[in-house]
This record gives sequence, C-alpha cells and structure tokens, in this order.
Amino acid sequence: QSGKILKDDDAQLAAALQEAGEILASGGTVAFPTETVYGLGADARNTEAVEAVFAAKGRPSDNPLIVHIASMSQLDGLVTRVNETERRLMEAFWPGPLTVVLPVAPGAVSPCVTAGLSTVGVRMPAHDIALRLIAAADCPVAAPSANRSGRPSPTLASHVGEDLAGRIDGIVDGGPTGVGVESTVVEVGADGTVTVLRPGGITARQLARVATAGVRLDAALLEAGGVDIPAPRAPGMKYTHYAPRGAMRIVAGAAPERVAARIQAELDAAAERGETTGVLAFDEHLPRYRADCVESLGSIAALETAAHRLYAALRRFDDRGVTCILAESCPQDGLGSAVMNRLLKAAGHNVIHV
Ligand code: TXA
Ligand code: MG
Repeated sequence: QSGKILKDDDAQLAAALQEAGEILASGGTVAFPTETVYGLGADARNTEAVEAVFAAKGRPSDNPLIVHIASMSQLDGLVTRVNETERRLMEAFWPGPLTVVLPVAPGAVSPCVTAGLSTVGVRMPAHDIALRLIAAADCPVAAPSANRSGRPSPTLASHVGEDLAGRIDGIVDGGPTGVGVESTVVEVGADGTVTVLRPGGITARQLARVATAGVRLDAALLEAGGVDIPAPRAPGMKYTHYAPRGAMRIVAGAAPERVAARIQAELDAAAERGETTGVLAFDEHLPRYRADCVESLGSIAALETAAHRLYAALRRFDDRGVTCILAESCPQDGLGSAVMNRLLKAAGHNVIHV
C-alpha cells in the first residue's frame, strides 16, 4: 500500500502520488479521494486491472464503470463525438461531480469498463489529488466507488480500508470527501435534452441553466419504488446499494410532529423487542428522539450537509450494531433529490407515510 499521506506535506504527497500513479500504470488498483466519494481506480484500457476492481468490490459485471480523466485532451480517442450540449455541460461543470455518458470509441477502453455497452460514462473530478494521480498514471482511470458492493460509499480513507484492505494495491488518503454523494450521471439526446440517470452532486436546476433544450429524470427514477419500473438506463441504479446492515425505514409526511411521533413509536417498539435502535434525522427535530444511536444530517435548510454526512452515518449504525433504523425524509429539491435517492435505496424503498 502507498500508505498515509499528509496533505500539508507536499513533497511527501508528490512522492506518494508518483508511486500510486506507477501502480495504476502497471495494472494495479489504487483507491483515491474525489470531491464526491473515494473511487477505486484502475487503467481503463487494461482488462485484467479492471477485472481486479470488480473482484475487489464483489461488483456484478453488468454494471459499467465511470472513466475519470484529468484533462480535456484525454477525451480525444475515448469517445467518438461530443455534441454542443455535452460540450457546454463539460465547460460549466468540469472538473466537478457530473458524469456524461458518451459514445465510446471502439477499443478505447476494456469492454469490462462499459459492460459491453456502446457508451462510456466520463467525468473529470474536482479534486487536486485525483487530478494529479490520473495525470501521474497517464491513462484514463476507471473508478467505481471504493466500497464493497452493497455497502455505503466511502467518504473517508478509513471506510475504504474497512471494506477493501488486503484486496487492493493502495489507498491515497486525502481526508474526508466534500460533496459526500456520487456524481450526477447524465445522457444527452440527439435533440439536446438532458436525461438524469442518477441524481448527484450537480442539481437538476444547475443542469437546466446550461441545457437549453430541457432536463428530465430517467423514468426509472420517477417511478422508483413502484412495481412495474422500467429497467434503469444507468445499470447500477437497479441494485440495492448503500444498504446498512440494520433494517431501515423512512417515515415521510407533511407534518413534522406526526413524523417525529411515528418515528419515536417505531423506535420504542423496536427497543421493546430487544433491538438496537438508530435514528437519522435533521437537527431541527433531533431533540425529539430517544434511540441507541442518533445521527444528525444537519439542518433541513442546508441539504449539502446531509449529503456530506449520509454515508458515514449509515456506516456508524453498522459499527454500533444497530438492527432497526428509522430515517426522516427531505424535500426532493436541489441536493435533496440525490439524498432521497440514496436514502430510499438504503431503506429498500421501505417508506411509512403518515
Ligand atoms: O462520484 C462518482 O461518480 C464516483 C466517484 C468515484 O467518481 N463514482 C461512482 O461510480 O459512483 P459507481 O461505479 O459507483 O457508479 C457508476 C454509475 C452506475 O450507476 C453505473 O450504472 C452508471 O454510473 N454508468 C456508468 N457507465 C454508464 C453508461 N455507459 N451508461 C449508463 N450508466 C452508466
Ligand atoms: Mg457505487
């Protein structure tokens, strides 16, 4: 492993990134921070390296990986074309938490990266360590989130260690990630319409300012939780991700008092059954709850805090052996749509309406 890196010691960081870049270039796997979550990187052109990523994560092979680049010149040769809207999205949001699905250039990446699709998801992360590592490796870097499949995504290097120690070739520790939920994945239609395949760090409103032909959500997102949901076009969206080990339910309703009363009633009933209880709630309502493990998502008025804290909170429930988790919901607006998407998955779409 490339070991711990101190961000304030630039000589040490440069040496570690050099070493990590060489591991990637020679077909190894290295976990690294991005502005969203930690990724597990491999040379996207190297099938063996990419297979090692799938194996380390225990990831189904039909779920394609995002390719990370550090400069626009890396896009040449990777994709066959970039249309006007795609170009404007990249200019507006790269580097940043936006993944654009583009037609892949034949032979540019291992077929394992795209899971056999004719498209590839590409993004340029807004994180100095990620950009320097990709540049040092001098290759397109395929990187899914650096968690075991089904676990919450890692927002700290220690989360990566918990899930993947001994299964990968290195971890670059860049401290906590910023956004805390993954990138927004979009696909642009021939008419310039932007379809959000996965909500994430760039909001629909931000996209709409750039995408003049309009922004829509993939039908699978709109009807998530329904019975007859169409197959999502981001293959990863169909798996139960982000699940804590305890059984999680979301309580939703317009009246905060009713929500809080129902959550506390469920917590009390679970405690009565001998369960270890946990609650995931916003600061405004936190004093109302009694549970073994109380996790704050910050203020309901600042959902970037909820995004930043969500995955670490889910992991703490696991660490403390929580078996019954109740969570509040939030408005599906701005970053709230990414937060609710992840909460719903963590809860297996188990929602109590009050
Ligand atoms: O923020 C992020 O995007 C993080 C960091 C590490 O960059 N990465 C990440 O990767 O979340 P992963 O593998 O956990 O999620 C990739 C998502 C999956 O839902 C996958 O199905 C979708 O992107 N995806 C990848 N390539 C695609 C493609 N060609 N077409 C449609 N969806 C695609
Ligand atoms: Mg993931």
